[in-house]
Amino acid sequence: MCKLAIVGSGVVGQATGRGFSTNGHDVTFCDINQQTIDELQKNGYKACLPESMAGESQNFDAFFMSVSTPTNDGKIFLEHIISATKQLGQGALKKNRGYCVVVPRSTLPPGTTERVIIPTLEKNSGKKAGRDFGVCFNPEFLREVSAEKDFVNPRLVVIGELDRKSGKKVDEIYSWAECPIVHTTLAEAEAEKYVHNLFNAVKIAFFNEMRGALGKYDHMDIDGIFQLVAKSAEGCWNPMYGLKNLGPFDGSCLPKDTEAFLGWAKSEFGIDLPILRTTVEENRKLTKKSRKINGKPVAHPRVPCFGTLVANR
Ligand SMILES: NC(=O)c1ccc[n+]([C@@H]2O[C@H](COP(=O)([O-])OP(=O)(O)OC[C@H]3O[C@@H](n4cnc5c(N)ncnc54)[C@H](O)[C@@H]3O)[C@@H](O)[C@H]2O)c1
Repeated sequence: MCKLAIVGSGVVGQATGRGFSTNGHDVTFCDINQQTIDELQKNGYKACLPESMAGESQNFDAFFMSVSTPTNDGKIFLEHIISATKQLGQGALKKNRGYCVVVPRSTLPPGTTERVIIPTLEKNSGKKAGRDFGVCFNPEFLREVSAEKDFVNPRLVVIGELDRKSGKKVDEIYSWAECPIVHTTLAEAEAEKYVHNLFNAVKIAFFNEMRGALGKYDHMDIDGIFQLVAKSAEGCWNPMYGLKNLGPFDGSCLPKDTEAFLGWAKSEFGIDLPILRTTVEENRKLTKKSRKINGKPVAHPRVPCFGTLVANR
């Protein structure tokens, strides 16, 4: 059993803390919202305000940070997580007697844990990351509608680690999880979470765009068509499709059919399909830029493959 603190006890924080508690860990929730604290306490959990957390215990094994990171005017707003990090550094981390790991779970742009979170923790605690405490980035993949269920039944656990010691501590905390646990660098784990969300967003937007175009027809069973596409399109039935660094799409179908459908929608119905249009334009640009290595097209030769990632099981 590990002693864990959850900093930021909203949707992700509560699913995380309740899930760890169900799996035998000793969990203390922390939040700036008194009402959240009261409700958690009413339900039998340990919960406190940030200023009281340092007094709660001085031997936490890990601090999981799940403070919100909203987007304001198109920019990620990091002030909440920076403020929570400062409080953690000045309080509970500074006073913690043994080795512990700080684990951001908030969605953060790649590089933020290394460039913002670690320096803020070090400055405010007087301790050194890697020597006095560990750091991991552990993205959350839960769906809001089934947050707790998703947390206790993970499909994948990604642990971005500052060093092996940090990663091993978080492995121990997840020893109950039956899914693969994959170790990456801190920035790779942050990037993975963004690509995950962006892919989902683009997929939804694409099918919405197709729904708009096909909706111009009367009596078209669009849902039925999409169900069939889910079975016929390799991009749907093969999860590895499109992931390799093979450059732009080419061959005898994709370039001609994307352009044809775009032109046809314009001439037939006078509609623009911006996602498809951008796809065609970007693919053309990439075709011009792409080079061939050993006879195979490569879009970004200097981008390393994910060969560095290590699956534990
Ligand atoms: N909601 C989701 O489905 C989901 C899924 C995966 C990842 N995420 C990411 O997880 C993070 C948290 O999301 P959420 O939906 O749980 O947010 P939320 O708004 O539900 O919870 C954030 C909590 O942090 C608390 N808080 C703010 N400042 C604090 C501080 N200084 N100290 C302690 N607590 C503080 C708030 O009072 C709130 O209870 C975000 O980065 C989000 O992008 C969310």
